[in-house]
Amino acid sequence: MSVLTQIGNKLLLLIFSVIFTQNTFAQQLSVNNLTVEHQTNPLSVDNPVPRFSWKINSSVQNTLQTSYEIRIGTTPSINDNNAIKIGKNSPQSVLIAYNDKPLISKTKYYWQVKIKDNHGNTSPWSAVQYFQTGLLPADWTAKWISMVNPDTSLKSPLMRKEFNLDKKIKSAMIYVTAKGLYEANINGKRIGNEYLSPGWTSYKNHLQYQVYDVTASLKNGQNAIGVVLGDGWYKGRIGFENQKNFYGDTRALLLQLEIEYINGERKVIISDESWKSSTGAILASSIYDGETYDARREKPGWTNAGFKENNTWKPVRILEKGTEKLIGMSGPAVVKHEEFKALKIIKTPKGETVIDFGQNLVGWVILKAKGPAGTKITLSHAEVLDKEGNFYTTNLRSAKQQNHYILKGANEQTFEPHFSFQGFRYVKVDGYPGLLNLANFTAVAIYSDIKSTGKFTTSNPLINQLQHNIEWGQKGNFVDVPTDCPQRDERLGWTGDAQAFAKTAAFNMDVSGFFSKWLKDVKADQLPNGSVPFVVPNVLNAGSNGSAGWADAATIIPWDMYVLYGDRGILETQYESMKNWVTYISSVSKNDLWNSGFHFGDWLFYRPEDDNDGRAAVTDKYMIAQTFYAHSVQLLLNVATVLDKKDDVRLYKALLERIKTAYLKEYMTPNGKLVSNTQTAYVLALQFDMLPENLRQQAAERLVQNVKSYGNHLTTGFLGTPYLCHVLSRFGFENVAYDLLMQEKYPSWLYPVKMGATTIWERWDGIKPDGSFQTPNMNSYNHYAYGAIGDWMYINIAGINVVTEQPGYKATIIAPKPGGGLTSATATLETSYGLLKSSWIIENGIFKLDVVIPANTTATILLPKNDKKEKVGSGNYHFEYKYL
Ligand code: BGC
Repeated sequence: MSVLTQIGNKLLLLIFSVIFTQNTFAQQLSVNNLTVEHQTNPLSVDNPVPRFSWKINSSVQNTLQTSYEIRIGTTPSINDNNAIKIGKNSPQSVLIAYNDKPLISKTKYYWQVKIKDNHGNTSPWSAVQYFQTGLLPADWTAKWISMVNPDTSLKSPLMRKEFNLDKKIKSAMIYVTAKGLYEANINGKRIGNEYLSPGWTSYKNHLQYQVYDVTASLKNGQNAIGVVLGDGWYKGRIGFENQKNFYGDTRALLLQLEIEYINGERKVIISDESWKSSTGAILASSIYDGETYDARREKPGWTNAGFKENNTWKPVRILEKGTEKLIGMSGPAVVKHEEFKALKIIKTPKGETVIDFGQNLVGWVILKAKGPAGTKITLSHAEVLDKEGNFYTTNLRSAKQQNHYILKGANEQTFEPHFSFQGFRYVKVDGYPGLLNLANFTAVAIYSDIKSTGKFTTSNPLINQLQHNIEWGQKGNFVDVPTDCPQRDERLGWTGDAQAFAKTAAFNMDVSGFFSKWLKDVKADQLPNGSVPFVVPNVLNAGSNGSAGWADAATIIPWDMYVLYGDRGILETQYESMKNWVTYISSVSKNDLWNSGFHFGDWLFYRPEDDNDGRAAVTDKYMIAQTFYAHSVQLLLNVATVLDKKDDVRLYKALLERIKTAYLKEYMTPNGKLVSNTQTAYVLALQFDMLPENLRQQAAERLVQNVKSYGNHLTTGFLGTPYLCHVLSRFGFENVAYDLLMQEKYPSWLYPVKMGATTIWERWDGIKPDGSFQTPNMNSYNHYAYGAIGDWMYINIAGINVVTEQPGYKATIIAPKPGGGLTSATATLETSYGLLKSSWIIENGIFKLDVVIPANTTATILLPKNDKKEKVGSGNYHFEYKYL
């Protein structure tokens, strides 16, 4: 199909071409990508009404689901006679809550789906998938075990147990968790591919357990389990001032192995007084400081049956049950991802031997080494070299980030840490025996197993590098909790950073499960008065809470997750927490003005050294607080509307009006000038609709003047930056937004790129133009907050916009806005419904756009420099026209 349209005096060639072959063959309709609670085949589903999702593949355009049927059974061969059936005439294919008879705990359920569509077709049944329900408190018979009392040794405890299995095994599931970190082995093999388990949560409130199917690891006859424990976040150094033992001083293990024999009999092996404990090669491990491993102290075969326990093996101690709630793991586990080869060996002016891996990453080095027994190799980690080219670790503050390996003198051995991770690009090697061979050093990135969902590229290599840096900032700081930085003695779940970056994060990767898990901790660590800590899980001193723009993570992130993934459940779960946060603000406000307490303000905004014009980028902190108060109430109001809580809607509408009135009275002149004449002041006022409509455009113009007065530079910090370009775009200043994006000189997004950054920096000028560093006590080179420009790039450059009223990309607006000299841009996004794509190129004065819209969704396409609006259903589309 092709349409030739005359618009004004311009000849517009609008080719509307359908890529799919239509009607020639029978329609192919199928269902795939089945998930439960955002996970594929999860093994520990706690939600008593788990939610099912699937994606639809269709070979014709405009496909919408009209009904679904789900079959759930307890065997893989599900049929209509042995299954629970849920079905409905409904377009819903994302997060459908189970609503039949109660599910039984620790039970594996198999399920499949089929659907009908608006063309009258029926899909075949999907492939069978499964989910397993979690353990109820009463299902736990295992006992907490630890080493001798008190647990003061830095060495990692080893815990072991042998047991006999005398019948044919049908299935075996292991349920395990620890106070500290654990690595579990069965019959000489590590269980699972996960690291830093059981992950970091607000341990005092809840602790995750993991579930592994170990059927294939067990055998008839004698078997052995061996588990090694590390300090981790639980007992090790975390937070400030050398804080240790924050959650407890005793490392402990809880393990339950449930075996089902073919004859239907069951056997359960639990952690109890029959276990033995000793120590091995891990002499010390710490999240911040690294690990010391003495291979001479290995106990070969200790996780195998038949191992001879010597007199270092002592009975274990049984611990009292804690008050923490055990919860099934719901977020993605931390696993290994990309590997990096060592690129080159650098001899620094100081004489250090340093290896460059070419990418600032988070993980560790896998080292191969061979040498005389007792040889100690030390690997130190750093993000940058200094101006002179020397190894630079001052910005790590007190974090040592060093792994020490002591050789045992036999054959070549491979080393890697077990209970620590490092943030680095460069590694300094000391004590390596013989000639250093690059092939013996491999860096491996570890991060939560969040699937990559978005790709974004343009014709400009610097912007592509910026996107790369944003993604790597995300990878490095999504290590089980969203952290500020992954290298210095911090690595904490700073709420402000997380809320600033959450939307961008959701473009690059599937963070639905990751944030659902973390939000449970936001709620759990919320204070009784509703205030929200600076960091979650909270490991800071009393009083470290309630800062505007930080604590608002409690309202902002649930809303973002709802809009971006269509997860209404997250709103239900977090509603009380959101409400409590707003109630807290109201309780410390006077006359609806939030003008008390400590606030970080527009953290790390630009500070010119000497400005003769008297300008500054300092934004009044209470003014910022008032805008976030309004924002949080607005979001709460949105949620109350979605959840149909009529009384709350009324309440928060009235409150919002009062907050805005109080703001105008306190912070705006009658003509619309703000008390702080800064970019952030105008950005927040406009983004959160603080100003009367008739004064908004002139406020946007003041913002533009301010940007121009700084020579097309931004001056915003953590709170203003995420919204800066969005506000400019919204008020018609797309070009100014592009000027800021394309700015290569400090302060700007591309300045660090030009300086060779491979991740996002904490500060606009982490490395100054003369090569010197910013203040060492706060200068991380892997801090994602300023990467929050990412969502503007997907939304404005590529044009992918979610429609809030139809969340999760059930409806999309594709509205690319070319600019900044770009001649092409492509973004893909794997949404809850399937792949969405917007790709444009300007060639010989012709604008060409390719769009892919997933089945069961619709889109509106707004073409640039063209007032035509196309409403389309699912399918592939191509548009092209003269672009003048
Ligand atoms: C962290 C931040 C955080 C800030 C709050 C810093 O030390 O790295 O990113 O938001 O403190 O002031």
